[in-house]
Amino acid sequence: MQIKRNKFYIGDIKIEDIIQKYGSPLYIYDQKVIEEKFNNLKDKIEYPFLKIHYAVKANSNTHLLKLLRSLGSNVEVVSEGLARLSLKAGFKPSQIIYTCNGAEKEELDFIMGKKIQPNLDSVNQVEYWGKKNPGSKIGIRLNLNMGSGHHEHTTTGGSESKFGIHISEIKNIKRIVKKYNLIINGLQQHIGSGIPDPKTFEKAAHALLKISYQFEDLEYIDLGGGLDIPYRPKDKEVDIKGLSNVIDDLMSSLSKMRGKDLNLIIEPGRYLVAQSGVLIAKVTDIKTHSGNTFVSINTGMNHLIRSAMYSSYHELVNISKPKDRSRKVNLVGNVCESSDVFAKNRSIRNPQVDDLVAILDAGAYGYSMSSLYNGRPKPAEILVSKDKVKLIRERTPLDDILESF
Ligand SMILES: Cc1ncc(COP(=O)(O)O)c(C=O)c1O
Repeated sequence: MQIKRNKFYIGDIKIEDIIQKYGSPLYIYDQKVIEEKFNNLKDKIEYPFLKIHYAVKANSNTHLLKLLRSLGSNVEVVSEGLARLSLKAGFKPSQIIYTCNGAEKEELDFIMGKKIQPNLDSVNQVEYWGKKNPGSKIGIRLNLNMGSGHHEHTTTGGSESKFGIHISEIKNIKRIVKKYNLIINGLQQHIGSGIPDPKTFEKAAHALLKISYQFEDLEYIDLGGGLDIPYRPKDKEVDIKGLSNVIDDLMSSLSKMRGKDLNLIIEPGRYLVAQSGVLIAKVTDIKTHSGNTFVSINTGMNHLIRSAMYSSYHELVNISKPKDRSRKVNLVGNVCESSDVFAKNRSIRNPQVDDLVAILDAGAYGYSMSSLYNGRPKPAEILVSKDKVKLIRERTPLDDILESF
């Protein structure tokens, strides 16, 4: 989002013009940002056998999947639904990595049937897979007792975590692998989402590569996702080049020792799409009491749950009043929950009823975590590329909501 002559733009298009045509609330994505972020990873990570698998759950709009495919991305999915969606968007089964957290037997059968590469998540899954498909190749997700994330709910490793095969189970896994002549061709680790310090990511990579020496038939090392983005003005962009140097050294020495080039997989979600998206909403009401001002907008935790669920920070901009003085307000949604709050005591430029407010960096875990809670439609989604505006998902028609209840 940029400001030109006191008006806010995405690409070459004035946001107010988009809202006039498509209404609010509205998710708008800037294609250029996704392209830049993808190319940044691709160009700055020097290890030659890098495969980027976009984490589809971050934003599963088919148009964005197609865009990422055209840029050279593969995908990582966590359910049959997201796998089918990826196939529909044109990805080949060989371009999909399936993370099997909590997968049912029927789901594992689906993965086997489609010849998609799994990263199995438990001893039971490996046993089931081996019985049904002896002699086949599997990846496994490990929990090496390391976890990190922007919130405890996004931390996916460590002793308190349900994710992955715990390090203490490796002996057991090797026994089952032998029993069914399975081949472990990949190791995955995803320690969490929104990892605040890239050094933690590096440390986890070290630990995974250290343990990888125990597995002889590896074709890939999968470091998962988790790269954070600067949500607050004081936050810094992750130094991808610095990270690349560390990973490159680790992977090159592993490949050298093995006498073959191993693939390096990463599964970024947030990093690729968060900064491309804004959620635009209209101010519907303002109340002041007990020294607090509550500015209510026509969206809420049903459309962007991050603030309510993780107390996440999103920058807020009154795009209707670019020059007015700021005042401190609580920006709240229109859902009947007291946690439906986007910001408390935050400076926003003089909000008035009917103003448009932009919630920034909403491209990841925004629409994909949205719901029909309170019986309100989901917003439409728009993709802007320079001077082109494309409706990439319609607002949920109210009649559809009535049908589904
Ligand atoms: C297995 C796995 N890979 C990748 C990701 C993407 O994480 P992020 O969006 O933080 O990059 C997730 C999300 O938590 C995940 O569970």
